[in-house]
Order: sequence, then structure tokens, then C-alpha cells
Amino acid sequence: MYTWRVNDSLTIRKPFDAHVHLRRASTLRAVLPYTAARFGRGIVMPNTEPPIDSVETAAAYRDEILAALPAGMSFEPLMTFYLTKNLTPAEIEKGADGSICKIHAVKSYPYGATPNSQWGYRSILEAEEVLAAMERAHMPLLLHGEVHLNDAGEEEDPYDGERVFFAEVLPRLLEKHPRLKISLEHVSTAEAADFIEKQGKEGRLVATVTPHHLMYDRTQAFSGGYRALLHCKPLIKTRADRERLRALVAKGLPFICAGTDTAPHPESKKFSSCCAFGVFNAPAAVEMYAQVFDEIGALDKLENFLSVNGPRFFGLEPDTATITLEKKDWQITEPVVTEEGVNIWPIGHVQHGLGNEVFRWKIV
Ligand code: DOR
Ligand code: ZN
Ligand code: ZN
Repeated sequence: MYTWRVNDSLTIRKPFDAHVHLRRASTLRAVLPYTAARFGRGIVMPNTEPPIDSVETAAAYRDEILAALPAGMSFEPLMTFYLTKNLTPAEIEKGADGSICKIHAVKSYPYGATPNSQWGYRSILEAEEVLAAMERAHMPLLLHGEVHLNDAGEEEDPYDGERVFFAEVLPRLLEKHPRLKISLEHVSTAEAADFIEKQGKEGRLVATVTPHHLMYDRTQAFSGGYRALLHCKPLIKTRADRERLRALVAKGLPFICAGTDTAPHPESKKFSSCCAFGVFNAPAAVEMYAQVFDEIGALDKLENFLSVNGPRFFGLEPDTATITLEKKDWQITEPVVTEEGVNIWPIGHVQHGLGNEVFRWKIV
């Protein structure tokens, strides 16, 4: 209702990133301006090293983020806890109360699945007492919904981890914690889309979708060799999965929202024989979402997806500031460079992406 379009120009309230990895120190200072240029607020992921699992470490991280903002830019970091084995029900209460640092959610990484996930539980179902405290405090659980190791401790097929989670783990979790607020992060498969479309409920069970899972499929992730910039968890899936995700966001459901999962890594970790998982999409995330929504004829659904549904789930009002996008071709020609001279390559870079990629919408 607040979206209008005149001559391929679109003004919407400032987007809300429900899933952002900002890192720390020089990486944080390099990447933050790209997120802050597009998003007014973001749910900040806690998988730093060491992980964020106390109100004191969360407050220090929040202050570091605010200090990293260039003059004249604004961005509100919304802090989260990592569901480590050290996280206690008492800490959940302190985080909910907010006197030291307001904690907006708790993120669960399945043990071993992604960078810095070694502190997580093997199964979310083991975190009984903390989950009960979250339920009492109305604090949402953000789920990286993939099974990485099965009950026998064997590796799951990485293309099947999400399906196994949605079929076997999630129904048990929902049954055990009927009042827990849950966000299913970065859904990537048709099965996950089917699940959330049927079971999703505003304020109770929501899902985020990344720009890269909406824009790419796995044939591209392997086209002309191995595409490091598209290597992430959950893996980018088939064309059919991508189409199903597009159909999901096109419905304009109030429990589906943007979460970029922008996850910067230094060149040395991306272009290595053991490429780090993570897509750095902050320099083009909103633009990519606009492009996909345009392609599927759903631009009228973009503002709620980007700027309304996310804050509502966290009990916040949508932003009052706005951004304007125009339909205009552009390319990413440079890496983002830290103050130590380390390159961080964004998705879609003309050489290191798929090759000469063009983005169709631009923030003006
Ligand atoms: O690809 C990923 N990278 N997936 C995650 O869940 C974590 C992230 C990271 O922190 O690099
Ligand atoms: Zn994740
Ligand atoms: Zn993530």
C-alpha cells in the first residue's frame, strides 16, 4: 500500500535485514557501509569468534558495530545470542529484559554445518531448558534448518540436509514447544517452501529467503567450473527449488521476509581449495530482490517482504525512512577492500561471479 511505481522507479520504506553477518574489526568496518546503505536495521548474526552468548559480549559487539558506522550513515544493529552449550536460561532473561543489551533472538547452528558452528548442539531438541526460557520471554529462535550429521554421527548428503530437517526435526520441535516463536532461516528447497506455506503463522512461525537462493540455481553454481562466490550453506539448490521459492515470495504472505545471509569472507578463504561457505551479497542484496520480484511480476509485494514483515515478527514497527530504486543496469566491478588491503568479493562481480553479470535495479 505504501509502494508506488512511476516510470520504473520504486520508493519503499527502508528494508529490514532479518539475517546479516557483519563480522568484527576490519571486516566489519569494510562491509557495514554496504548494509547500512540499504537496510535501516538488521538482525545481527552471533557466529563471531568467540560467539556471542552473553549480554556483555553482545553489548560490546553492538558498540563496535555502531563505532564502525561511517559519519552520516545510520543503522540499528539488533543483537542475537548464539545457542551455544554455555547459554543459560538466566542469560535469556537478562537479554529479554534489555538493561545491559536487548537481545532480539537466539540463533541455532547445527553442529559442524557452517563457519563457527562447532559450538552448537548436535540437535536443537537437546536445548530444552533454554528453549523453555525463550518461550517464556517470547524471544524468537532463528533456525539454520539443516541436518548435517545424522543420529549415527554420519555426514548427511549436503543437498538433503534441509529436507531431512523439515521432515524429521522441525515437526518434533514444533510439537514440544508450541508457543516458541521460530524463524526458519534461508529456506532453500521446495519442501521447506511447502512447509512454511502451509504451517506459517504471523508472529509465530516465519521464514526468511535470501537473494541468492531466489536468483541462482545449482547449475549456475557449477557453470564453467566451481563458482566460489555462490558457495554457501544451505547450498544453492535445483532450478525447481528456485522456482518454488519464487512462487512462495510472489504470494505476499505476511510470514515470509527478507534475510540476506550476507556472509563476507576474505579472498584467501573463498578462493582456497576448501572454499568457505558464505555469499557476500550486501553490495547488491536489495537490488537482487527487486530484480527477482520484477521478473516474477510481484513488485507490489516487495515492500512488505523487505520492510514490513521482518520488523513485525520482532515486535517492531517498519522504518519511517525510505529508499528509491530505479530500473537501471549496473555491474559490480570492484571488490570491497579492508583497511589491511584484503579483498572481499561480492556476489555477481564481473570477473569472479558468473562472468559479466548485470544487475537490473539500482538504488538511487
Ligand atoms: O554460508 C553460510 N555462511 N551459511 C551460514 O549459515 C553461515 C555463514 C557464515 O557465517 O559465513
Ligand atoms: Zn544459517
Ligand atoms: Zn547466516
